[in-house]
Amino acid sequence: MEQTERARDFARRLLAEPLAGRWTHTQGVGHKAESVAHLVGDDADALVCAAWLHDVGYSPALTASGMHQLDGARYLRDVAGFDGLVCRLVAHHSFAVIEARNRGLAGQLVGEFPAVEGLVSDALTYADMTTNPNGDPVEVEQRLAEILARYGNGDLVAESIREASPRISSSVRTVTALLAAT
Ligand SMILES: [Fe+2]
Repeated sequence: MEQTERARDFARRLLAEPLAGRWTHTQGVGHKAESVAHLVGDDADALVCAAWLHDVGYSPALTASGMHQLDGARYLRDVAGFDGLVCRLVAHHSFAVIEARNRGLAGQLVGEFPAVEGLVSDALTYADMTTNPNGDPVEVEQRLAEILARYGNGDLVAESIREASPRISSSVRTVTALLAAT
């Protein structure tokens, strides 16, 4: 089975029944990543896999630390056996290192999963942050506002996203500009 097909199956199994909303969002992110995968050359397969798998850490079946990016990446590395780049992308998607720092988990996150720099990371952030909870395309500003409203002022996730917002927006601009030029 191709790695991307396997990634889609894992995500469906982990999310569709317990967290139907997350599965709906995930399908939108997966398809968005597929639509930009041509931009990242040899990393296309890892990008698409990571998009399908980026939120599996929310699944009740594998929650451990309470940080979905870290729980998901550990599961994908230790249980599912996905390749290292996929696990690192999931661990760091949408600038998770800021949330990890706020949770006191940055050492574990970065120690176990070195951050991925560059366009493939931007492309995953683009796919996640231009897809709303219903799986539909949305402008990044609306997406960020919706997350802040959903979690509420002062919430750790909301404050982490607020701090990450300039970097998230920059990633989205980078990918949008490349798409416009191709
Ligand atoms: Fe997401």
